[in-house]
Amino acid sequence: MRVRETGMAVGTVQVTLPAGGSAAGPAEVAWVVGLQAQGRGYAKEAASGLVALLRKAGWTVIAHIHPAHLASQRVARAAGLSPTAEVHDGEVRWVIRPAAQAEQAMVVIRAAVPGDMSALQDVFRRSSLSNDGDRANLLTHPEVLEFSDLAVREGRTRAAVADNRIVGFATWLGTGNFLEIEDLFVDPERMRQGIGRALVLDLIAIARGQGIRRVEVTANQHALAFYEKTGFVVDHEVTTMFGPAPRMHRDLIPAGGGA
Ligand SMILES: CC(C)(COP(=O)(O)OP(=O)(O)OC[C@H]1O[C@@H](n2cnc3c(N)ncnc32)[C@H](O)[C@@H]1OP(=O)(O)O)[C@@H](O)C(=O)NCCC(=O)NCCS
Repeated sequence: MRVRETGMAVGTVQVTLPAGGSAAGPAEVAWVVGLQAQGRGYAKEAASGLVALLRKAGWTVIAHIHPAHLASQRVARAAGLSPTAEVHDGEVRWVIRPAAQAEQAMVVIRAAVPGDMSALQDVFRRSSLSNDGDRANLLTHPEVLEFSDLAVREGRTRAAVADNRIVGFATWLGTGNFLEIEDLFVDPERMRQGIGRALVLDLIAIARGQGIRRVEVTANQHALAFYEKTGFVVDHEVTTMFGPAPRMHRDLIPAGGGA
């Protein structure tokens, strides 16, 4: 890694590839930035570039990161990787699938049924814990990691299914003037593959079907960029159990005008 303007070497970014090619296993990336050059986004830029190249070339990309190493977790997240439940020698395995595979993965969205509860609970728990800033809070309030079956019983939960597995879900509440997104969770191993956006578009279709012209959400701080990308704007800040959070909305243009 060199600084563009000066050519000064500031660190390294590396990849280890299995000799048998991408079918034989994932590409493992790692980075190191010298102490004086840390905190300037060098690792983010270098790792993101390398990961993008590898994904385009058909590789699943992984990294192993110590749970206490927050700076490296930010680098990995910026490069599009997500944490998995796998731990090797005390380090968490992060992963992102190849671009082609992500695009090909067929995702179907359907109403969730009571038989989906344990899969929904599993996605809910792992997805909630994937937000770095929330983890400590959630672990001290384990009751909020329990997903109630009320919305499923009331037919207000939509499940995203790929390869016969639930990979995300959303729960909505119709309040008359607007449709509220109560929950939106994607399996950490399947984030950044368009599943969250597909769930939002599905809720927009439900709103339209009910003649509702606005969708609202109290967004998790970590999901702010995602909601902005999917057409939501911030209205104001509200106080939640875990601190301030942006209240956001998306107005729906009449059907035929695009989603
Ligand atoms: C927020 C969440 C639902 C997004 O789901 P996702 O499937 O990863 O999102 P998508 O792949 O559909 O992303 C859609 C766009 O948002 C962007 N995006 C998604 N997550 C992002 C992030 N953390 N930072 C910046 N951009 C992000 C994507 O890059 C994509 O942009 P593009 O239009 O340029 O391609 C998912 O990260 C999640 O489950 N988070 C944990 C639970 C949570 O916080 N839920 C929100 C509760 S309000």
